[in-house]
Amino acid sequence: MASESESNMERFKTENHSAFVVGYTGEVGKALVKDLNKLKIFKKVVLLGRREVALDVGPEIEQKIVNFDKLEEHADLFTGLDVGFCCLGTTRGKAGKEGFVKVDRDYVLATARVSKAQGCKQFALVSSTGADTNSFLLYSKTKGEAEEGTKQIGFDRLSIYRPGALLCKREEFRIGEKIMSGLLSPVIYLFPKSISIPVESVARAMINHVVAPLSGSSPEATTYYNRDTHEASGMPSGGCSK
Ligand SMILES: NC(=O)c1ccc[n+]([C@@H]2O[C@H](COP(=O)([O-])OP(=O)(O)OC[C@H]3O[C@@H](n4cnc5c(N)ncnc54)[C@H](OP(=O)(O)O)[C@@H]3O)[C@@H](O)[C@H]2O)c1
Repeated sequence: MASESESNMERFKTENHSAFVVGYTGEVGKALVKDLNKLKIFKKVVLLGRREVALDVGPEIEQKIVNFDKLEEHADLFTGLDVGFCCLGTTRGKAGKEGFVKVDRDYVLATARVSKAQGCKQFALVSSTGADTNSFLLYSKTKGEAEEGTKQIGFDRLSIYRPGALLCKREEFRIGEKIMSGLLSPVIYLFPKSISIPVESVARAMINHVVAPLSGSSPEATTYYNRDTHEASGMPSGGCSK
């Protein structure tokens, strides 16, 4: 996959695809926008978020502000965008239990539904290790429900990513992540593909899958675990550049 990605990108560029990104102000989203800006594989990229941020990107990349509670009202923004990248997410600590479910499940599903109705063919969803509709943990259950709901929508290609701990220089201070990364650092050092992944690798894996030719048969839905995502990225396993 990663070895063919250069030729896939060259072919993909000639096909005039357009994309949207939700969650583009987050850590995976920022890495994705940076990579998309560098690779220039899309004719147009629409970044859809709740707030505008300063970006140093080319003219093919534009930002639009949306209200995710009323995404149907912004349906026209998705018109002509055949590829979708979903990097949305929050934490229970930040948004509370209901707020977490709303963002990590309901906003994800609303994005999938509205974009599909407007002709989106490929959808790449950043989920998480442990996603499971039957889990007793709110986080894992919510992620599992987002995945299952997205599978029902019928994209030509649905790629679901289940990364482990994301490696990045997060602007926001998250105590849980700090403790976890401290505790897990020996494992991350010794086995860099096992339980963690740089956000740049998640971003590049999503891009490499999107540019691969579609089989044209029944809808494809594939789940990429942490190690698969490393492999698909074709990038070195450690560190985080920013
Ligand atoms: N952190 C980890 O180690 C880890 C591990 C595995 C999987 N994941 C999952 O990977 C995905 C990406 O993670 P990340 O760390 O890149 O996320 P992040 O940095 O927290 O960014 C999340 C994105 O979602 C947007 N968002 C949050 N609440 C919103 C709301 N109420 N309305 C509209 N947009 C909202 C944020 O916009 P604003 O900037 O406006 O808030 C931001 O663009 C998430 O689904 C996360 O659960 C994370």
